[in-house]
Amino acid sequence: MADTEELAKGYTARNDTQYGAGTFLIQKLGINPGMRVLDVGCGPGNLTAHLAEIVGDEGSVVGIDPSKERVALAIQRRTARLSFHEGIAEDLSRFPESSFDVVFVNSTLHWVQDQPRAIKEFARVLRPGGRLGISGGSGDYTTAQETIKANVLGREPYRQYQEEFPPRFLKQEELERLLQEANMFDTTFFINKIVKKTKDADEMIDWLDTSSSGKTYGGTPLDLRPRAREEMKAEWNKMKTERGIQMEMELLVTVAFKS
Ligand SMILES: C[S@@+](CC[C@H](N)C(=O)[O-])C[C@H]1O[C@@H](n2cnc3c(N)ncnc32)[C@H](O)[C@@H]1O
Repeated sequence: MADTEELAKGYTARNDTQYGAGTFLIQKLGINPGMRVLDVGCGPGNLTAHLAEIVGDEGSVVGIDPSKERVALAIQRRTARLSFHEGIAEDLSRFPESSFDVVFVNSTLHWVQDQPRAIKEFARVLRPGGRLGISGGSGDYTTAQETIKANVLGREPYRQYQEEFPPRFLKQEELERLLQEANMFDTTFFINKIVKKTKDADEMIDWLDTSSSGKTYGGTPLDLRPRAREEMKAEWNKMKTERGIQMEMELLVTVAFKS
């Protein structure tokens, strides 16, 4: 299912977890006034606007995202130093080589279908010495969300509907190899341990849904989704305590330099 205006607006209101992860990445990257930054998979642009404040009047920030619904929201934040385009990580051909000091990729790489090609594009548009920052779910850590999704969608009648482009969380060693192949060096990895807290299962699923542009249900047809949601809710409710639901996550945070 494609993205919708409702999901895009929902994400704009519920992206505090990704925003927090993004500020951790900004700290590790060391973004300074005057820098030219590309935000890949910028979504509705909350973090992109924050990046623009950091780089100030001497710097510039460009956000790209394939979702026209999310870019339409982001464009409302446009300024002389902050612009947005529809586009995918795998094709940054609108940007000349060496045109950015920083490429920033937050909570997005797992949705990119051709990750090796995207990482080569990140390297191409970075100036020599420029830095790439990536933060997102790790292939070395399985979250409750992945377990619940696989469990429910592995049942009848959902199991016959394969997800066309499932998320792919890279392991640290896989990412390290792709960075080397793209001539990115001096790579540092950090693990950002966070806990996603919601008051109940509905709030958790709504967050997952708006974050993934509706991919919580994989390839499940629209008419079966309410039923799948109820089964997922039952699984989340097994984790519920008087403090609500808490999902532990270990984000893989990467900083690498272009040689
Ligand atoms: C969870 S959102 C993250 C948005 C923003 N970076 C943030 O941290 O709030 C993931 C974003 O990745 C975008 N996306 C999906 N496939 C992509 C691709 N191939 N290239 C770039 N962005 C992509 C989605 O449209 C969505 O806006």
